[in-house]
Amino acid sequence: MPRGVFITLEGLDGSGKTTQIRRLAAWLTRRGQEPVLLRQPGGTEIGDRIRELLLDSRSRSLDSMTEMALMFADRAQAIAEVIQPALNQGKIVVCDRFTDSTEAYQGGGRRLGSEVVLKLHRIICHDLQPDLTLLLLPSFESSLARARRRNDRMETETGRNENRFETEHDAFYRRVWEKYHEIADREPDRVVLIEGDLTIDEVHEQIVESVSERILSLAEKS
Ligand code: TMP
Repeated sequence: MPRGVFITLEGLDGSGKTTQIRRLAAWLTRRGQEPVLLRQPGGTEIGDRIRELLLDSRSRSLDSMTEMALMFADRAQAIAEVIQPALNQGKIVVCDRFTDSTEAYQGGGRRLGSEVVLKLHRIICHDLQPDLTLLLLPSFESSLARARRRNDRMETETGRNENRFETEHDAFYRRVWEKYHEIADREPDRVVLIEGDLTIDEVHEQIVESVSERILSLAEKS
């Protein structure tokens, strides 16, 4: 049985990933290839509990190393429980964030560096690599404004600030942004960079084009 296809979506908070994943999933389903969808952190029962701990504004004292270790703990569970079994069954897996997020946020944002993240990935994730990563980077300013609006809305509605990361400073996001660019430059075969303030339809078209090419080329190889 050929291995399935592993697609990840990456980007800053507020980059429109959620909308694009929904549209990509609908497009794949229309083509008879219903994908397995998951997000990180989260996506399994244990992962959802780890997510709560990670994103809750009350977890302010979380050390950066603890944060990184929890991201990997969540990922190990997702790989064992969902991603690897689905790929073994030849399915398409679409994951909202993966190790590039840890490299960008903890490696770049928290300044832990890429080396430790990539080393942990090799050990904890058995170096599982996506076949295709769609990196959404609208302008820095518009991503940040969108993420903060969403966070304020959530706080007004629920009385809780659910995303600790969205209250970070601009300088933190600048470092995340730069690290994402570094990853895209380093791995052009895997990472497709979708940049600028495009419409939802324009981004969707670029995603569909990349996915079509990748799925076709993998199908030809198997
Ligand atoms: P999201 O589900 O809205 O994308 O939020 C998840 C948050 O967690 C987002 O701010 C990015 C952050 N994150 C990390 O810092 N490191 C990671 O490895 C992952 C997967 C997410």
